[in-house]
Formats: sequence, C-alpha cells, structure tokens
Amino acid sequence: MVRVTRNYRFSASHRLHLANLSEEDNQRLFGKCANPHGHGHNYLLSVTVEGPIDSRTGLAVNTFELDGLVREHVIGKIDHTYLNRDVAGLNGIPATTENIASFVQSQLQAAWPGTFPALAHIRVQETKRNVIELAVIQREV
Ligand code: NI
Repeated sequence: MVRVTRNYRFSASHRLHLANLSEEDNQRLFGKCANPHGHGHNYLLSVTVEGPIDSRTGLAVNTFELDGLVREHVIGKIDHTYLNRDVAGLNGIPATTENIASFVQSQLQAAWPGTFPALAHIRVQETKRNVIELAVIQREV
C-alpha cells in the first residue's frame, strides 16, 4: 500500500463570529478572524489516498481523475467565495479550518468512486501557523 497526496489551492473569505457572544468574547475565541469586515485566506488543501500500486500502470491512483473530482466537488464550490454565505454545508456554522476540513471530507465521500483507492487523509492549511489534519475513518461496508 502507498499513500498519494495531491495539493490544491483555493482562496476564500470568512468571518468567524458567534452571534450569541460579545465582540470581546468573539475576539478572544477567534482572534483576527472575528474582524467584523471579514477577510480572506489563501488556503492549501492536501488530499491523501491510500491503496495498492496497480501493476499495469505503476500508479496507485489516476491523479487526473482525482484532480477532477476534487475540483468539481470541493474547489469549484469554495474558491473565491464568502464561506459564511456562499457555501451550502458551511453557512450557519463557523467557517473554521476544522469545519472546512469536515466539509471537504463529506463532499469527497459523497462523490467518491468505488474504483478509487481509499480516501485516507485531508489537510487544510489556512495560514503558516494554522493547519488542520483530518484522518478519514473508513466506514465498514
Ligand atoms: Ni481568518
């Protein structure tokens, strides 16, 4: 088994804010991301699959197909959006990096072809200092 990781970029804006907290408490919880005017990040997304090497192609995954899947179901839905408003699955919840990683997981799992190797890991980097990693738990079938 090998792990293959593909990296993607997207840009999006957000504001982290809980309506039932004061401005002060929001600042304490979310820091600069609570800024009332919103702001953008250039995110890095890494998607890792795990599977055997195909003896004919020497590949563990068709990266063109994987890229197409990620672009259609993730990047195309969140790139250059205002996450709080524009993305079904993120509006109504704080657009934290954690929730973005969960969103990516559910989008990919819903569309994942049975012919693909297992989706193993999702990593979302918001800033140099803020990285979220999500190990995908395989559901028994
Ligand atoms: Ni932010």
